[in-house]
Amino acid sequence: MVTLNTIIVAGAGTMGQGIAQLCATLGKQTIMYDVSQEGLTKARQAIDQNLYQSVAKGRLAAEKVATIQTRIVYTTRLEDAVGDMLIEAIVEQTAPKKALFRVLEQQNSPQFIIASNTSSIPMEVLSEGLSRPERVVGLHFFNPATVMKLVEVISGPQTLACVAQQAEDLALLMNKTVVRAKDAPGFIVNRVARPYYAESLRLLGAGGLVHEDIDRLLESVGFRMGPFRLMDLIGVDTNLSVTTSIYEGLGCPKRFEPNPIQQSMVLQGHHGRKSGQGFYPYSKDEGPIAR
Ligand SMILES: NC(=O)c1ccc[n+]([C@@H]2O[C@H](COP(=O)([O-])OP(=O)(O)OC[C@H]3O[C@@H](n4cnc5c(N)ncnc54)[C@H](O)[C@@H]3O)[C@@H](O)[C@H]2O)c1
Repeated sequence: MVTLNTIIVAGAGTMGQGIAQLCATLGKQTIMYDVSQEGLTKARQAIDQNLYQSVAKGRLAAEKVATIQTRIVYTTRLEDAVGDMLIEAIVEQTAPKKALFRVLEQQNSPQFIIASNTSSIPMEVLSEGLSRPERVVGLHFFNPATVMKLVEVISGPQTLACVAQQAEDLALLMNKTVVRAKDAPGFIVNRVARPYYAESLRLLGAGGLVHEDIDRLLESVGFRMGPFRLMDLIGVDTNLSVTTSIYEGLGCPKRFEPNPIQQSMVLQGHHGRKSGQGFYPYSKDEGPIAR
């Protein structure tokens, strides 16, 4: 087993921020890599804010904040991404993920582990054409990564048992609950969750109800978040990419078809909380303006 001293977190967005915070809190040197300097700046602010909130809530000792902060290096230079393991959380598209893996497996040691936080793309697809497909594993956190307990660990057809075990052990050290999932589009949770979004969008498209009503109704019967509020949290664009990937991966069944309402929102840049506008508008500090 490789010693995991340095972890590269690729993608400084919704998920990468929380994953980097988890790694640094665990004591790992953390390299946060993103193509966008603006994305890195926002990630640093979000992580700092999160750490201070943890102190305020009594969950983190104030003297630990600076140590955790200094463990994270933020970079747009791919050549800086040298470590023992990658946890990839970039856009939910196969081509950019594979391109990143190809470079990182070349510039790191043969023991380097490539873990993907993909919500939907099988390891069989992501590891195809790599020199070391046996070192690719799915490590799927849920949003917000620092809060949600569940992590799906996914082995592809060639993943070594020791690589999957090391990914699982890391998640356990982060105090997560691990489930091993089959290497299939959407794994477990995202496949089961698809109808929640799809039927809500169909209902909205049919007219007669506004999204606030649908959210309110679902929340009133016990769902923690209505489907539209949840899509805004996830990222409307990310949610659409996941739907599209599962739809195509399963052979385009009608029930998983992407919805035009969601497609049009993505085209308009209404990506949810992270863009300030989704189904709801959001203030700068990410809080919903309207319920
Ligand atoms: N949002 C969720 O609720 C959620 C939950 C679990 C898993 N995921 C998965 O995590 C991954 C990231 O999703 P997200 O919601 O954090 O996305 P996001 O849109 O919030 O952030 C993506 C980040 O990746 C960066 N990026 C894009 N292409 C890149 C590249 N080639 N190299 C480096 N950085 C690049 C972008 O600049 C952006 O900062 C996806 O695979 C998604 O399916 C998302």
